[in-house]
Amino acid sequence: MTPKLILTGFMATGKSTVGPMVAKRLGWRFLDSDVEIIARAGKPIAKIFADDGEAKFRALEREVIASLADVRRRCPHCHGLQPEVISTGGGVLVDRANCDALKQVGVVVCLTARPEIIAARVARSKTLRPKLKQGGKPTLDRVKELMDERREAYARADLQIDSSELSVEQAAELVLEGFAACASRRGAPAASGP
Ligand code: S3P
Repeated sequence: MTPKLILTGFMATGKSTVGPMVAKRLGWRFLDSDVEIIARAGKPIAKIFADDGEAKFRALEREVIASLADVRRRCPHCHGLQPEVISTGGGVLVDRANCDALKQVGVVVCLTARPEIIAARVARSKTLRPKLKQGGKPTLDRVKELMDERREAYARADLQIDSSELSVEQAAELVLEGFAACASRRGAPAASGP
């Protein structure tokens, strides 16, 4: 059975640009856990943090990951797991249950980047990132601090790819290669696209 491709990693490592490209190359559906959370809550992530707190956001995130990783969600044609690329928010692997559920249905690929690169990307981006505002520190210091806290969680991924010096196309290529290698080690046929 072909596993899903799960794309995770720290904020601004390229998940939301690399993910759709990888999905297109495979001819698979692309899903994003943050988009599902926003739909369920009926408001943007920064507003969930502000109105309801991080604990509520993480509870919603756990619900969404559990439903995306639900093995009963089958392809109506072949009855196998739906072939999908799923991008997750940067904090998803911190929760052990999320990580275990995702690994059961997919190969977990973690994008990384150097803190300086992340801080520069965040400065250019319009996306509000409440985790980086916590503590009121300069962005680069906060990125380093949060990365250190999460190092162990990210190490639980099946593989890590550093996107610091890569174009979106190069990162997508490495993700596809790494995914195919991990999938074949698990005994699944390597996905080759449509
Ligand atoms: C978070 C990352 C965000 C989003 C939320 C929390 C985190 O997603 O889920 O703001 O804890 O790292 P991106 O990684 O897509 O920015």
